[in-house]
Amino acid sequence: MSEIHFNKEKGSQLKLFTPGPVHVPERILAEMAKPNDTHRSKPYSEMHQRVEEGLKKLLYTSNTILISTSSATGLMEACVRNLVKADEKALFFSIGAFGDRWYKIGVNNGKVAIKEGVEWGKAITPEVAQEALNKDKYAVVFIQANETSTGVYNPMDEVIPVIKDSGALVCVDATSSMGGIKIEVDKLGIDVCLASVQKALTIPPGLAVCSISPAAIEKVPQVKSRGLYFDFLDLIKYNEKHQTPTTPPIPQIRALAAQLDYILNQEGLEKRFERHTQLGKRTRIWARDVNFEMFPEKGYESDTVSTMRNSLNIDIEKMVSTLLSRGYRIVNGYGDLKNKTFRIGHMGEITLEELEEMLKVLTEIVSDIRLNK
Ligand SMILES: Cc1ncc(COP(=O)(O)O)c(C=O)c1O
Repeated sequence: MSEIHFNKEKGSQLKLFTPGPVHVPERILAEMAKPNDTHRSKPYSEMHQRVEEGLKKLLYTSNTILISTSSATGLMEACVRNLVKADEKALFFSIGAFGDRWYKIGVNNGKVAIKEGVEWGKAITPEVAQEALNKDKYAVVFIQANETSTGVYNPMDEVIPVIKDSGALVCVDATSSMGGIKIEVDKLGIDVCLASVQKALTIPPGLAVCSISPAAIEKVPQVKSRGLYFDFLDLIKYNEKHQTPTTPPIPQIRALAAQLDYILNQEGLEKRFERHTQLGKRTRIWARDVNFEMFPEKGYESDTVSTMRNSLNIDIEKMVSTLLSRGYRIVNGYGDLKNKTFRIGHMGEITLEELEEMLKVLTEIVSDIRLNK
């Protein structure tokens, strides 16, 4: 364990500008340190219920909210196992690493999985979606809101209505957007909207959450071999008592209850979304000024994570490690995009001023690296 990262007295001394896990403020860490009752107690159920109510507001939905003791990938698998019947076809839109992961989950669970995508850096537009949907009849469609590897945001408001028109159920992976970008679940008719909490919701990892529609709930009993840990019916049964079937990470749930209260009643939803819009915009202006081309197609850049091409052809690892020595962490490109791109996460509780400070240091580092190349 590096000394600067894990300072015993003060916690993490690093400022994370990462696409998750993100920098967690002391007020949230303090919530996690409070003593807890058991997950079958009344205080726990009250806390669980607060999370449900808060998430309904955050997602603009009256759908059921489920809490899962897993990361987002667990709920991605749950959607596949609970909603796709053996004789049905499932369509996975993929524009990057996490879309590919969802497709792989489909294949590994023996479902009839079809992948449709575009070149990395581009988005699923309504036209692309329509063309794919015209090819066959799909029972369930899976799509990312924010593709964290490429930094592309699929335009939910335009694409989801096209998918819904086809009659399919639609599952949205809102990891790295939930809590940072507005997604109106009921207006769009999203059947499952899921995310893990270590991204824009700003909680340490260990928990994932989703909304689930009545149509999706109705379908679950018709699907065989749902497994046990991620059986939606079991999760729903316990959720009626505001509990989970197995032992959940109670500190994370306590922190999420407090954080939702902060988001809704102190910062305010609109202000939070606007702050993320500004953070995205500011990062793109910086990239333009320093001469880094954005990896995403113009107009589809995410406001929570920016992926830049290495258009200056500099040593990305050196840039990242030098910045680390100055107290900030950004990250290299994901998978095949390593060294060809790099990413700056600007989600959660990051302020515009904090972003400015980090970008100032990063600009100096980039100039030094260019000068000494
Ligand atoms: C869009 C997206 N989906 C899924 C995942 C997987 O999340 P988890 O690590 O919580 O399973 C990530 C993680 O970065 C992500 O960004």
